[in-house]
Parts: sequence; C-alpha cells; structure tokens
Amino acid sequence: MDTKQPTLTTERSTLEPLGERHTEPIVRMFADPEMSRYFPGDLTVRQNAEAMVRRRLAYSGPPELGHWVFLRDGVVIGLGHLRPSWELPGELPEIGWYLATEHGGAGLATEAGRALLHYGLNELGLDSVWALVHTENAPSLRLAQRLGFLRVGSGVHYGQMWHHVHVALPGRVSGKRPDGTGSLTPAVGP
Ligand SMILES: CC(C)(COP(=O)(O)OP(=O)(O)OC[C@H]1O[C@@H](n2cnc3c(N)ncnc32)[C@H](O)[C@@H]1OP(=O)(O)O)[C@@H](O)C(=O)NCCC(=O)NCCS
Repeated sequence: MDTKQPTLTTERSTLEPLGERHTEPIVRMFADPEMSRYFPGDLTVRQNAEAMVRRRLAYSGPPELGHWVFLRDGVVIGLGHLRPSWELPGELPEIGWYLATEHGGAGLATEAGRALLHYGLNELGLDSVWALVHTENAPSLRLAQRLGFLRVGSGVHYGQMWHHVHVALPGRVSGKRPDGTGSLTPAVGP
C-alpha cells in the first residue's frame, strides 16, 4: 500500500507504521489474556490474533492515518491506531492503544498515545480524535483521562459491550509534547 504514515518518536519509544513483519511479535503479545480482556474475541487464539493483524494490514483509508507498532529498543511492545472509526458515524478519526503487560505502569502507553494524538490534532489538523473505551477498562479510561480526552457519552460498541465515548479537541490535549518538553495545552485564563 502507498503509505504516507510517518514514523513518530517519543522520549522512550518509536511508533512505526504497521507492516507484515510485525505480525509474529503482535501475535505473541496478544497471547496474554489480559490484552483482550475487554474485546469480543479471544486474541490468545493464534488464528484470531493473526486475523486481527491481517484486518489492520488491509487498511485502505486515508494514507496518513492507519496502524502503528510501538517499539522500544527495536522490540515491539505495543500497537495503536488512528483511523476512520468503524463504530462511530461520519468516519470520525478514532484512536486505540495496546501495550504489552510487562511494559505497563511506566507511562509508555501515555507517551505513545500522546504522540498519536499530537500527530492527529497538531500535525494533520484533525478537528477531533475519538476514543471508545470499555466501561470497565480502568487502565484505558485512566489513560484517556491523562491524555485530556473528554467523556461525552456511552453506548454499545464493538460486540455488544458498553463503552464510554471520549473526544479530544485541538488545543485541549494535556501533558507534554511527544519529545517530553513543554505543554500541549495553551495557557488559559481563569
Ligand atoms: C490500556 C493500556 C494501554 C494502559 O496501559 P498502562 O500501562 O496503564 O499505561 P501507561 O504505560 O501509560 O502507564 C500508566 C501508568 O503508569 C504510571 N506511570 C509511571 N510513570 C509514568 C509516566 N512517566 N507517565 C505516565 N504515567 C506513568 C501511571 O501513574 C499509570 O498508573 P495508574 O494507571 O495506576 O495511575 C493497557 O492496559 C493495555 O494495553 N490493555 C490491554 C489492551 C486494551 O484494553 N486496550 C485499550 C483498548 S480501548
């Protein structure tokens, strides 16, 4: 596919456009049941995980959007996307994040999510970025909150499960820039 997706860098990781060569490490990452606890399908089953990667590799939307792997020291530690939503109306841009359990709790998903969000809102100039998070997925809800997403409702998405619907808007993204400096939120008065 003709891709214009950039490689993004954060303080501790690199976000590289998803390629065929990432299939095996992603399948191994999803062998951990925690990784698909809030998903309709069981991605610990190799065939399901392989099919999930194939669906992502078959992405044919706007070439500047799509799927990325998170690499640390050249090793795949996560997966993310920023692409037209399959669930929300109007092909709204939707973000998603998945971090291997052994790399959790250190802010790496926050860094990667922030880099994708910064890319979408500040570099591409998207009007909004949306995130659907299962209502019981506490770590992912905390991550959305840390990144400055606003919760705007909830609904049944991704296989009959309740999800909170979040949106991030330009100028309201919280935290540091992907390179670790400054703040993404402009100073506002009281
Ligand atoms: C959702 C998911 C990516 C969140 O991972 P995570 O490890 O909690 O996120 P981070 O890597 O950003 O780490 C944040 C945690 O580390 C802590 N932390 C440590 N150093 C940090 C730093 N420098 N910056 C930010 N947080 C830091 C935070 O306090 C936070 O802990 P808390 O949630 O207990 O407050 C992960 O749980 C996951 O992949 N789950 C399975 C897949 C999934 O459900 N994806 C979501 C689909 S909507």
